[in-house]
Amino acid sequence: MKAIILAGGVGSRLFPITKGISKQLLPIYDKPMIYYPLSVLLLAGIQEILLISTPSDLPLFKRLLDDGSQWGMNLSYAEQDQPNGIAEAFLIGSSFIGEDPVALILGDNLFYGAGLENLLVKAKYSASNKATIFGYHVENPERYGVISLDTQGKVEGIEEKPLKPKSNFAVVGLYFYPNSVVEIAKQVQPSSRGELEITEINQTYLDQQNLNIEFLGQGYAWLDTGTHESLLEASQFIQTIEKRQGLKIGCLEELAFQKGFISQKQIIQQAKVLENTSYGKYLIKRYS
Ligand code: TTP
Repeated sequence: MKAIILAGGVGSRLFPITKGISKQLLPIYDKPMIYYPLSVLLLAGIQEILLISTPSDLPLFKRLLDDGSQWGMNLSYAEQDQPNGIAEAFLIGSSFIGEDPVALILGDNLFYGAGLENLLVKAKYSASNKATIFGYHVENPERYGVISLDTQGKVEGIEEKPLKPKSNFAVVGLYFYPNSVVEIAKQVQPSSRGELEITEINQTYLDQQNLNIEFLGQGYAWLDTGTHESLLEASQFIQTIEKRQGLKIGCLEELAFQKGFISQKQIIQQAKVLENTSYGKYLIKRYS
């Protein structure tokens, strides 16, 4: 299975910070935001990854992440000229995807919770014939794609940013699709706000009865980082858990080692470059 990280966008809600740099390169406590979605893909055991960003930000991502081999990944890069919508990722990435199923994760989404790995692996194996999306109970569903439920709790449909949401379940920015997603994306027309909407792809799989929806319960955190407040809260959340447990979240070297993608020797070599930071010290302490 392959995966795309979509890390473009304007980040207008974070201006003036994001006038000069991509939102996904900003720090979430002790590491760049992009590390968190990358860590989710590592957890799913996906190594072939395409990162899509704006023409001006792409060189910065390359400088930070290189070819991904330091984490046992094969990272490639592509440009999205304008933020034409999330579904455009499958058009930009069509030759990268080839004949394979594909996962998509948004570069500004953070996930945390026990059991995540099992959910990801299940979605990965289902993706040979079924799509999987994830629902999460939020206070402000109108900002997201919303899962409409009937009185029996059965899924009726998915609505993009509805004024009157029919549930509190938002669709999170992580999706697993069979290879047919490329053809489906080609049929999607721009919405009234001028974007190729991922919700239309999800609705198509729902209509075909080929959509699994997994609900992430209260034991999971799904944070997005689009506003100044949520950006700060995400950093505080990571700091709180890391400090209490003495374990790092989104530590790519550690995850790559646990997955068997890199050796202990490689972790230490990479940690030495970071030895003046808590991140580097953490790796040296645990793996030397
Ligand atoms: P948004 O939060 O919808 O957009 P944004 O990041 O540009 O922020 P703002 O609304 O403040 O202007 O995007 C969610 C994620 O998806 C984010 O990681 C950027 C990414 N994205 C793209 O890369 N390309 C796109 O065309 C869209 C719509 C989003």
